Amino acid sequence: MRPAARPRRIGVLGCADIARRRMLPSMARQPLVRLAAVASRDAGRAAAFAAEFGCAAVTGYDALLARDDIDAVYLPLPPALHVRWSLRALEAGKHVLCEKPFAPDAVQARLAVDAARKHGLLLMESFMFLHHAQHAEVLRLLGSGAIGELRSVTAEFAIPRLASGALASTLPEVGAYPVRAAQLLAGSELAVLGAGSGETYGSALLATPQGVTVHLTHGLDHAYRNRYALWGSGGRISLDRAYSTPDDHVPVIHLERGGSREHLTLPPDSQFTNVIGAFARAVADGTGFERAAQDIMRQAELMDLVGAGAI
Ligand SMILES: NC(=O)c1ccc[n+]([C@@H]2O[C@H](COP(=O)([O-])OP(=O)(O)OC[C@H]3O[C@@H](n4cnc5c(N)ncnc54)[C@H](OP(=O)(O)O)[C@@H]3O)[C@@H](O)[C@H]2O)c1
Repeated sequence: MRPAARPRRIGVLGCADIARRRMLPSMARQPLVRLAAVASRDAGRAAAFAAEFGCAAVTGYDALLARDDIDAVYLPLPPALHVRWSLRALEAGKHVLCEKPFAPDAVQARLAVDAARKHGLLLMESFMFLHHAQHAEVLRLLGSGAIGELRSVTAEFAIPRLASGALASTLPEVGAYPVRAAQLLAGSELAVLGAGSGETYGSALLATPQGVTVHLTHGLDHAYRNRYALWGSGGRISLDRAYSTPDDHVPVIHLERGGSREHLTLPPDSQFTNVIGAFARAVADGTGFERAAQDIMRQAELMDLVGAGAI
C-alpha cells in the first residue's frame, strides 16, 4: 500500500471574508492539508486570524512567499490582484489555489498559466462548486441515459441587490458560475452565439458542435436563483443550490421522465473541504497540472466571448 502523503503546508494571502467564513474552517477538516501561516497587509489582522485558526501570523504577502515552511498558497485577494500575486507565488516556487474569477481576461490568464507551466507548479482556479458530489451524480445520470440524448442546458445564478446597495462586477463575480457550469454539463467545445447584458444582469446563448444549446443567466439585482437544468430526448434533470451550497444542505436532484417525477436525495457534502483536498492530492501526485491550466484558459476565453456578446 502507498504510504499516505504528508499534509501540504498552506499559506493564505489576505484575511478575506471568504477565507474566514468558509475556506479556513474547511481546511481544518481536510487531513491532506495543514494551515501553516496567514499573511495580511496589517499585522493586527494577521495576528487575529492566526489566533483564530492556530497558525503563524505574517505581515506582508512577500514575507509569506519567502517562507520555506509553505508548499502552496490559497489566494483569496480581490480579483484585480489574482494574476499579480499568483505570478509572485509561482516565482517563489509555491503551488497556487486562487479564488475565482482568476483573471480579467484571457491575455492576463495566459501570463500566469505560462508561468505555472514553466515552473512545473499547480495553478488552480477555486471553483468550489465543481467539487460537490451532487454534480458527479447528475453527470452519472446523464451518462447512463436517464434523460436520453442531451438537447439543451439552462444555468442560472442571480442574487438580490445587497442591503448596502454595493454592486460587485456582475459578469466576472456571478456570471462566472453559469459559464463554468456550462462546460461541466455540455463540454468545453462551446461557441457563443450571442449575449446581452444590463448593468446588473446578463444572459448568453452558447452551443456545442453537436447543436446542444446552453442558455446562461446571471444577475446581482434579481430574485434569488441558483440552479441548472438539463433537458434531453427522454426527460429532464434539474438541481437547485447548484453553485453556492452550504455544508449542511441536503441536495435533491429532480428527475422527470416517462411522465413521472423522482426526487433523488443525496447526503450533504462540503465543496470547500473537497476543493482543498483535490488541490492537495494533485500537488502530492504531481498530476492534473495541465488540466487545471487548460480549465483556467478555457474559462477566461469563454468569459471574454460572453462579455463581448460574440457571434
Ligand atoms: N468561491 C466562492 O464561493 C467565493 C465566495 C465569495 C467570494 N469569492 C472570491 O474570493 C475573493 C475574495 O472575496 P472576499 O469577498 O472574501 O474579499 P474580501 O473580504 O474583500 O477580502 C479580500 C482581502 O484581500 C486583501 N487585500 C489586498 N489588497 C487589497 C485591496 N487593495 N483592497 C481590498 N482588499 C485587499 C485584504 O486582506 P489583508 O488586508 O488582510 O491583506 C482583504 O481582506 C474574490 O475573488 C471573490 O470573488 C469566492
